[in-house]
Amino acid sequence: MRLPPRCSRLQVLMLKILAIHGSPHKGQTCEAAMEFLKELGNKTDIETRHVYLFQQRLEFCRGCGTCVTHGEDGCPNKDGFREVHAAIRDADAVIVTTPVYALQVTALVKNFIDRSSYVMHRPCYFGKWFMSVSTQYFTGDKEVEKYLADVMRFWGFNVMPGLRITMTQKRDEVRKRIGAAVTRFQAIERRARFPVPTWKDLMMFRFRRSAMGSKRFADVFPRDVGYFREKGWLEAPYYYDVRLDPLKRAAGLVFDAVGRAMMGSGNRQDATRSAIR
Ligand SMILES: Cc1cc2nc3c(=O)[nH]c(=O)nc-3n(C[C@H](O)[C@H](O)[C@H](O)COP(=O)(O)O)c2cc1C
Repeated sequence: MRLPPRCSRLQVLMLKILAIHGSPHKGQTCEAAMEFLKELGNKTDIETRHVYLFQQRLEFCRGCGTCVTHGEDGCPNKDGFREVHAAIRDADAVIVTTPVYALQVTALVKNFIDRSSYVMHRPCYFGKWFMSVSTQYFTGDKEVEKYLADVMRFWGFNVMPGLRITMTQKRDEVRKRIGAAVTRFQAIERRARFPVPTWKDLMMFRFRRSAMGSKRFADVFPRDVGYFREKGWLEAPYYYDVRLDPLKRAAGLVFDAVGRAMMGSGNRQDATRSAIR
């Protein structure tokens, strides 16, 4: 497996940004996102591509679980879904924009994430950056930001704090928030694309890797095991080449042992198997 150079930074002349718009119309959320992108464009070289989920007309996830168990090629839905992931692969940074509807992301965003469940199993967006943009009237934006951050960490992204705008905020406050988001984006160039994992990220990786060694897991998720093997992750200390200090290296071994013990006891896997069928 070709590993990324240690601590490599994003050495690009132009930052390629993909904006995935999750509002069912070109309303206030798109407007806020456009203002952010315009401000960012005034400060740094960017190339932006837009995907409007409402125009993609993606079918709903049918819940068959085939993408997770046997690979995304087996998804029975044939529509523009894969083009969105192709666009993500092509980008350096992704923003997902969504209004808060009924305290959460829109159904369009949730469906896109449901359809992408296999990426949570087989993460592939390491070295890329993610930021959420949300608008609301009163409440729910913190939950939306956290939800999207959690999902995108699973997908492999380096997640930045989100841009949250409340429609009742004074114009000055909105401009301040947009300015802060622009500054965060500008800082990307100085930050490591492949950062040292947090304790939680390291633990999750080692637990998942340990699970791969279990026959019961391999029976249910053969595609995941193949993917981890292809990537060299079954032997690697982490998803990518990064220097772990001695404490984290030792903790990694403990996480491995706990992960193996967890997979060896009880019948959790049987429960997963029946849940997925
Ligand atoms: C169906 C619907 C549900 C909403 N739910 C919430 C909510 O739970 N919390 C909130 O603060 N605002 C809520 N709002 C207000 C929107 O989040 C806010 O107006 C947002 O800026 C709309 O963005 P849009 O123009 O992209 O749709 C809701 C609006 C709609 C239309």
